[in-house]
Amino acid sequence: MQPRVFSGIQPSGSPTLGNYLGAIRNWAEGQDKFDNIFCVVDLHALTLPQNPRELRQNTWETAAMLLAAGIDPDRSLLFVQSHVPEHTALTWLLNTITPMGWLNRMTQFKTKAGSERDSVGAGLYNYPVLMAADILAYGANLVPVGDDQKQHVELTRDIAERFNTLFGETLTVPQPLIPEVGARIMALDDPSRKMSKSEPAGAISLSDAPDVVRKKIARAVTDSLGIVRFDPSQAGLYNLLSIHRILSGLSPQEMEARFEGQGYRVVKDEVASLISDALKPLQDRYAAFQREPEIVDRILAEGADRAHDLAAPTVRRVEESMGLRARIQSTASAL
Ligand code: TYM
Repeated sequence: MQPRVFSGIQPSGSPTLGNYLGAIRNWAEGQDKFDNIFCVVDLHALTLPQNPRELRQNTWETAAMLLAAGIDPDRSLLFVQSHVPEHTALTWLLNTITPMGWLNRMTQFKTKAGSERDSVGAGLYNYPVLMAADILAYGANLVPVGDDQKQHVELTRDIAERFNTLFGETLTVPQPLIPEVGARIMALDDPSRKMSKSEPAGAISLSDAPDVVRKKIARAVTDSLGIVRFDPSQAGLYNLLSIHRILSGLSPQEMEARFEGQGYRVVKDEVASLISDALKPLQDRYAAFQREPEIVDRILAEGADRAHDLAAPTVRRVEESMGLRARIQSTASAL
């Protein structure tokens, strides 16, 4: 049997080049090697304020973008998280065995809550437990994610191990699968921050037209050294060269040789072309789905049915191990 992969993406905005290079592209490429489950995690998006109409729209668009990026419904299960109630059911059960101290350590919560710690919704704090439920409900072996999600996958492992210790072997302990290159694409306007959907100023959206890509890359922050080296201390340039490396397949040495004596403008022009060339087929397929949205709706409906069939037995086992679902003893005879 092939190892099972589970991964997810939030519909909290338009998917970015960071999402693509750090995750989606690897999901699509691994489809023949794994038994694949991919999810648009709308319940996770709700942990920060959302406009309901935009959330609905972003959920559809993210699913269509995954299909356009090569997620093939014949080889992968694709569905929307809120369509499968087992995710929330399992979250509650896992919440009861997850120590607060573990959640207090989550760096993403600290960053997202910032100084608003007391006013953000409790869902933001519990976010990693919902993510653990996503993964554990399907008995996934591998979780392909970018670097920023590693801590959450490690927490998922801890929760699964704790459950198994408390209630007997029930849950599969998963492992993160993080790409060697592309796991952390940085924001174009500030290379000390990761590129993110929620901050579009520094991000390339997968639907950006070539002229938009060119403008954004031209404005990307670099440095004043003027030497093209593949060196993390030149953070902005390093980020652009990393994108180049993934899309061109050139090694760092080959890139340095190629750009020797050239200015950053030449690098930027090439990076912009590589990005637009990579996005073109994806954007064409996305436009086709927009013309026939019912294709996406059907794939998501079938996906939700199949996901429910896979998740329900696990949740039932978890409930039974914890002492739920026992037959109610009749008290009638005692009367
Ligand atoms: P999300 O929606 O932030 O991102 C989806 C995937 O894209 C990766 N990623 C990046 N990779 C490289 N560079 C970047 N700048 C970059 N930005 C994002 C993320 O690491 C992720 O793999 N909590 C998750 C969604 C989730 C999930 C899950 C993932 C919910 N349940 C279960 C795996 C398994 C998130 O917010 O991803």
